[in-house]
Amino acid sequence: METRIFEATAEDLQAAAELIKNGETVTFPTETVYGLGANALDEAAVAKIFEAKGRPSDNPLIVHVSELSEVEGFVEEIPQGARLLAEKFWPGPLTMILKKKEIIPGCVSAGLNTVGIRIPENETARAFIRACGVPLAAPSANISGKPSPTTFEHVFEDLNGRVAGIIRGGDARVGVESTVIDMTSETPTVLRPGGVSVEQLREVLGDVRISSEVKKDDIPKAPGMKYKHYSPKALVYILGGDDEAEREFLSKRAVFGKVAVIAFDEMKDILPVCVHFISLGSKSSPESAAKRLFDCLRECDKVGAREVYAPEILDEGLWRAVKNRLYKAAAGKRLDAQTAKSVLFVCTGNTCRSPMAEGIFNSLGKNGVASSSGLCVLGARGAEEKAVEAVSKWGIDLKSHVPIQTTQEMLDCADIVLAMTTSHKWTLFDDEKVFTLKEFVGEFGDVADPYGGDIEIYENCAVELKRLIEKIEL
Ligand code: TXA
Ligand code: MG
Repeated sequence: METRIFEATAEDLQAAAELIKNGETVTFPTETVYGLGANALDEAAVAKIFEAKGRPSDNPLIVHVSELSEVEGFVEEIPQGARLLAEKFWPGPLTMILKKKEIIPGCVSAGLNTVGIRIPENETARAFIRACGVPLAAPSANISGKPSPTTFEHVFEDLNGRVAGIIRGGDARVGVESTVIDMTSETPTVLRPGGVSVEQLREVLGDVRISSEVKKDDIPKAPGMKYKHYSPKALVYILGGDDEAEREFLSKRAVFGKVAVIAFDEMKDILPVCVHFISLGSKSSPESAAKRLFDCLRECDKVGAREVYAPEILDEGLWRAVKNRLYKAAAGKRLDAQTAKSVLFVCTGNTCRSPMAEGIFNSLGKNGVASSSGLCVLGARGAEEKAVEAVSKWGIDLKSHVPIQTTQEMLDCADIVLAMTTSHKWTLFDDEKVFTLKEFVGEFGDVADPYGGDIEIYENCAVELKRLIEKIEL
């Protein structure tokens, strides 16, 4: 699809609005993040949003309007509390969940009887919505799962060729998405922390609950919160611990591949030079952290990081939104630099057993990070296809694995080395940190090489590795 680029001029906004009226999708700037809009009352147009983003259809969309007077047309009632919030925070980074009227199609609300409504503060956004003359259903304008877009370049990178139009605006002022508050529950409940803090909401409403983190298999109240989100391709961890321990841990990890660290400027000087520093701004400015956050996460991919470490964040004010996004990017994985272990899995060619073991270990949320290497790596460019397939059903992606030869430096920097067979172990010398995987978990024997076997042999090997690795205690 050809994507037209529009500037934020009255003339261009009018032209972009014509596309919306014709049932097309157009992205637009808001003060939080860029949105991917379509006419909320046109089911076919809304379907194009889900398609462009690759978004699961059980995740409802926020409806954006330009004036409070329009809201009544789309919701059953506006409770008193919602009116107070509207007065104080609209236009602005707040989305209220209200009981929807029939006119809002089920595909917008993902079948729920509620709808999220927001009046953005950004002037271009409001001028655009007015020019459209219809409410705009709009999620963040990123490919599903990737960090939300806070600049025109982010939107262009993700959606050029997938939407009818992109409106160029400045960088988002807030940088994290709107706060989503459910005004249909007895006590107003924050489903997603965002640009308006819980403390600010409490000033107006008194009692406000914060929804406990959505567990994977629950039917969540804000369906969007259950998906893995904001994730670079790299492994992302929240790293805690004192400065010295962090420094030592990061120096060791850098031996196994490119490490990026998202950190405050105050930390820069204590980080080892071998890691790539990505600035979250000053520790004293939650505004700057919020504003930079998604760009930081995108930079991790740009620099080709294998592992990314992000700091622990306070549970207050705007920090709460920053913390929520970083924990989502890390899928909740947190390591303590003092105790976290570096584990190295070793097999022959680093194309089957050890990459599978590495992927499985890193998917299990253990107190450590695994890498893998081979004793005799012979020009293979990736993991064996069948190994990639055998672990993919657990959400483990080995497609970008590059086989590497074991080096002395890697052995020195690993805390534990786990070989697949006794003969691998003897090749690695009898260092006290070298074990066979089975020996380490109290069993005897080797993990047999699936190389050359059919997919069933690989799958059996993967299942055996998973069973053994689940038993690892660090
Ligand atoms: O700042 C923002 O809110 C941006 C800009 C473009 O306005 N939009 C945005 O939309 O972040 P999206 O789709 O990426 O996130 C909307 C979140 C999701 O977690 C979704 O599940 C939740 O709001 N949500 C939407 N409608 C809901 C409803 N009726 N009930 C519960 N949660 C809802
Ligand atoms: Mg989003």
